Amino acid sequence: MIGIKLLGAGMYLPPKIVDNEDFTKIVDTSDEWITKRTGIKRRHLSEGEYTWSMGLKAAKNAIENAKINPLDIDMIIATTVSADFAFPSVSNIIQGKLEAKNAFGIDISCACAGFVYGLDMASRYIATNDDVKTVLIVSPENVTKTVDYSDRSTCVLFGDGAGAVVVTAGGEPLYSYLGTDGTGAELLYAHLYPASNGFTDSEKAKENQKAFPNETGRYMYMDGPEVYKFAIKAMPEAMEKACKKAGIKPSDLDLIIPHQANIRIIDTAIKNLGVDKEKVYVNIKETGNISAACIPVCLSQLIEQGKLKPGQKVGMVGFGAGLIYGAAVLTV
Ligand code: UT7
Repeated sequence: MIGIKLLGAGMYLPPKIVDNEDFTKIVDTSDEWITKRTGIKRRHLSEGEYTWSMGLKAAKNAIENAKINPLDIDMIIATTVSADFAFPSVSNIIQGKLEAKNAFGIDISCACAGFVYGLDMASRYIATNDDVKTVLIVSPENVTKTVDYSDRSTCVLFGDGAGAVVVTAGGEPLYSYLGTDGTGAELLYAHLYPASNGFTDSEKAKENQKAFPNETGRYMYMDGPEVYKFAIKAMPEAMEKACKKAGIKPSDLDLIIPHQANIRIIDTAIKNLGVDKEKVYVNIKETGNISAACIPVCLSQLIEQGKLKPGQKVGMVGFGAGLIYGAAVLTV
């Protein structure tokens, strides 16, 4: 099987930083609660910047890091749950702005597991499509636009930003495991559109939307404790299954990059996996949960810090709305 090689990674975090103390001014919370229950201290918030614009900055950064030309890119996969428009897609806008004329673009919506799904998709296109050798995966997220800043149980968790990577044919195959439990779809969601189209009766429209009620307008709904329970089971399960395909044990991994939703979820999942804590990369304290951007931002930081060494086996694992989960083992 044709493998994939990581050529480079990039990131963009918007300059506005909001710390826990800032939240005590708008909701009934404390730095102590947020730190202890989530591990988050600060997060970056976009100030009206478009999602595609953050993605473009991360993509340019990744292309520079990979030392390629935008014309070398055959495919752009954008993974986001916070696209600016219903159409056109984020990947199409970024393709145009990069002048990556040889690339076609696809957006995928796989919530916080989006980057792992994008990587899996890239490896399969590279393996089976002669036209695709080099792929840009870009994960820009503007999740805070869906956040209700009067809901203390969700607003403290999220930040904005973008991560991107360039992969190309070569090296070891990517080993991945992807899973969905759609019975949990109503545990975490955000509406895209108003209930009514403006012509039909809005009460009737509400009745039709009894599943996924939208009492809070456009905002995110999350049953935190239920998602938490799912995550601490799904993360180790996915990582174990991806490792099994790679013919290794989780403890053989050189590095693990988990989705950064809550430090307690990460600690519990890693304990359940039986992996040395030292091997786990965590940046949640500074970024909060930036959905699909979490893992590629971590990859970019690891490269910047010189911590990614050729030949290392890196495990990546994500979970999120859907409910969705997935893990991949990449040899860098
Ligand atoms: O990327 C995937 C997206 N989401 C996630 O991964 C989230 C998964 N879930 C979680 O991380 C956790 O469930 C939360 C951080 C959301 C909540 O933590 P928890 O330990 O599960 O708390 P809880 O929801 O059981 O609430 C415990 C208490 C409640 O008060 P009462 O009812 O016991 O009086 C909450 O109202 O904590 C309260 N609470 C807060 N207190 C201070 C909830 N949020 C806050 C807050 N500040 N920000």
